[in-house]
Amino acid sequence: EKGGYDYFMLKEIAEQPKAVADTLLGRVDAAGSLTLDEVRISDSELREMDKVVIVACGTAFHAGLIAKYAIEHWTRIPCEVELASEFRYRDPILDQQTLVIAISQSGETMDTLMALRHAREQGAKVLAICNTNGSTIPREADAVLYTHAGPEVAVASTKAFLTQLVACYLVALYLGQVRGTKWGDEIRAVVRDLSHIAGSVEQVLGTMEPVRKLARSLADKDTVLFLGRHVGYPVALEGALKLKELAYMHAEGFAAGELKHGPIALIEEDVPVVVVVPSPRGRSVLHDKIVSNIQEIRARGARTVVIAEEGDEAVTPYADHLVRVPATPTLLQPLVATVPLQVFACELATARGNEVDQPRNLAKSVTVE
Ligand code: F6R
Repeated sequence: EKGGYDYFMLKEIAEQPKAVADTLLGRVDAAGSLTLDEVRISDSELREMDKVVIVACGTAFHAGLIAKYAIEHWTRIPCEVELASEFRYRDPILDQQTLVIAISQSGETMDTLMALRHAREQGAKVLAICNTNGSTIPREADAVLYTHAGPEVAVASTKAFLTQLVACYLVALYLGQVRGTKWGDEIRAVVRDLSHIAGSVEQVLGTMEPVRKLARSLADKDTVLFLGRHVGYPVALEGALKLKELAYMHAEGFAAGELKHGPIALIEEDVPVVVVVPSPRGRSVLHDKIVSNIQEIRARGARTVVIAEEGDEAVTPYADHLVRVPATPTLLQPLVATVPLQVFACELATARGNEVDQPRNLAKSVTVE
């Protein structure tokens, strides 16, 4: 049942290109326009929305953080992302013009379900992004967009995360499309890029041996830090979460711009720091800033593990370990940049003798608040 892999997690990591392709299947046509027939909220209702609020937990929350960048960029609708467990206790401001998006692999996470119920009680429309057919969250939502990752067995979420991202991009693009904004051409271009992304994920998977080797060499470390900015920031958070839950190591993700506001004090000799570098072509200002950050931490002794686009030579002199990912449009980069972090955490867990598919103290679906 593990299809020749030692762990479900390895199998699920390997299934990501297919999961991504399956989630796009039938939803994008050759002309680059989108059909999302499972979204049972009418186009006219979607046109009226003046705010998007995303609620989710854990890895799904990280997908939501990335979605915010895409939604605001493509639709210009303000978007907030909130941990589902915090949401209803804050008395959030919601009405009929709020689109709440609840993201959940299992569809049974109690915190997310309670946030959904609270949102509906306040009159908001809820769209679920979910991987489990007929589970509670999509049943109680006004609409659902299923991710087609297939069953995810390993406790640590991998392929579900990538498909949550795809679903979020689709929702963002769809909102842009129905609102008929001036973003039409850009949207069509992104749809084209998305249709090639499964191949890019496959390409990353083919180059992971050095990442595994690196992970094994770090098995006796106490701490690993992760840095990113823009959509690379939630990727850093996700890399840190994977490492905590699988390798039981202290790991933290930071927005690279925050380094100087505190975290840089943590940098000492030989501490591994994984840096997710934005494309030099897209937001090149951010790229250059993060290259300076890499220089700064390396000057203080950090051992830098740099995840950068192919052809980005600016990072080469400062990378103790360089992991290449295919060039992708900035907003889509998390689909390729997360994969090495999953492999890294999985291999570190193995090297430390941990139970990869069933980390201690964790359950696949958290049905208590
Ligand atoms: C991390 C992980 C958890 C889940 C979280 C939400 O690898 O698996 O953080 O992402 O418990 O679960 P769902 O998506 O089922 O609501």
